[in-house]
Amino acid sequence: MTRPDNDTFLRACRREPTDYTPVWLMRQAGRYLPEYRRVREKAGDFMSLCRNTELATEVTLQPVDRLGVDAAILFSDILTIPAAMDCGLRFVSGEGPVMDKPVRSEADVGALPVPDPGDELRYVPDAVASVRKALNNRVPVIGFAGSPWTLATYMVEGGSSKTYGIIKRMAYDEPAVLHRLLDKLARSVTDYLNAQIAAGAQAVQIFDTWGGVLTPEAFREFSLTYLRRIVNGLTLVNDGERVPVILFTKGGGAWLGDLADTGADVLGLDWQTDPAEARRQVGGRVALQGNLDPAILYARPERIEREVARTLDAFGPEPGHVFNLGHGVNPDVDPAHAEALLAAVHSLSRR
Ligand code: CP3
Repeated sequence: MTRPDNDTFLRACRREPTDYTPVWLMRQAGRYLPEYRRVREKAGDFMSLCRNTELATEVTLQPVDRLGVDAAILFSDILTIPAAMDCGLRFVSGEGPVMDKPVRSEADVGALPVPDPGDELRYVPDAVASVRKALNNRVPVIGFAGSPWTLATYMVEGGSSKTYGIIKRMAYDEPAVLHRLLDKLARSVTDYLNAQIAAGAQAVQIFDTWGGVLTPEAFREFSLTYLRRIVNGLTLVNDGERVPVILFTKGGGAWLGDLADTGADVLGLDWQTDPAEARRQVGGRVALQGNLDPAILYARPERIEREVARTLDAFGPEPGHVFNLGHGVNPDVDPAHAEALLAAVHSLSRR
C-alpha cells in the first residue's frame, strides 16, 4: 500500500482528524505563474500542452514546488472529452473555448462517439501515471472531469455563454435530445475517470461549473441525475484505499443535501455559500471543500491572512475540511499572494 507521505488531504476527505487543514487551489497551475507561462510558450497552444506528457507533468508539479499545496491536480482540461467527441474545439485568445461543430439536433447527438480512454484520450491517463511517478509520493494527485451538464453547455452553445439560451431552449422544448446527450457524456465521464483512477489518481473531482444556472427542478433533472450515475459507476479504489469523489457545483449552495445523497465523499463550496449553513445542510455525511472568494488574492497579504482565519473559524473544528478557493485562481493575481494564502492556512490551522 503506497499512501502518500503527506496524506493530510486524503484524511480530510475521509473526515479523519489531521494536524492542520490541508489546502489546494482550483486552477493552481496556470497563467498567474511565470514558470507556467514559460512552459506554455514552449508547448505552443494549450491543448498541445495538455497532450504533452512531460510538459503536463512539469506544470502539474509547479504549484506543489512553489506553494507547498497538499494535493496536486492533474494539468489538463474538462474539454478533452468534447475534443475527443470531434466537436472541433479551439481556444481563441480573449474569447475562451470555441466548438466549430456545436451539437444542436437529435442527429448531431446520435453521431457523437463515446471516446475510449484507452485510445484517443490515452494521453490523460498517461499524464496521471507520469505525475504519480514524478511526485514520488510527496502528495496525492487529483484526477478530474467536467459534469455532463457543464460539458453539454459548451457543446450545445458552441463555447462559453451568458444566457445559456440554446441549451435551455433544448431543455424546455426537446428534453429527450438533451437527455440523450447527457447520457452519452455520463458514460464517457465514467470511463474517463475510471481510467484516471486505474492510472493512479488518488481522488477525483467533478466540476459542475454551470450547474448553478439551472432552476432547482432543472438542476435535479439535467445535472444531479447524471452526477449520481457517475458516482455509482466509478471504481473507487486505489492501492487498497477508497478514492474520494469531490463534487463541485458552482452556484449549488442550496442543493448540498441532494449532492450529499449522490454518494460523493466531499462537496466543493463556492464563495457565496456560508460554511456553517453548509455544515447544517449536509450533517456529518460528507467533507466540505472551499471556499474563499478568489478575488481575495488581489488583496494585501495581511488581509488574506484575516480572511483565512475567518474561513477556518466558519468551517469549525470538526474534521472534514479541505481548504480551497470558491472557484479558480484568476490569471492576473500575484503568485506571492497565493504563497501568503498557503502559509496562512498551514500556520493558522495547526492544532
Ligand atoms: O486546476 C488546475 O490547475 C488544473 C488544470 C485545469 C484547467 N482547467 C487548466 C486550464 C482544470 C481543473 C480546468 C477545468 C476547467 N476547464 C473548467 C472547470 C473549472 C472552472 O474553472 O470552472 C472549465 C469550465 C474549463 C474550460 C476552460 N478551459 C475554459 C473556459 C478555458 C479558457 C479560459 C481562458 O482564460 O482562456 C480553459 C483553458 C484553460 N484550462 C487554461 C488553463 C490553465 C488557460 C489556458 C492558457 O491559456 O494557458
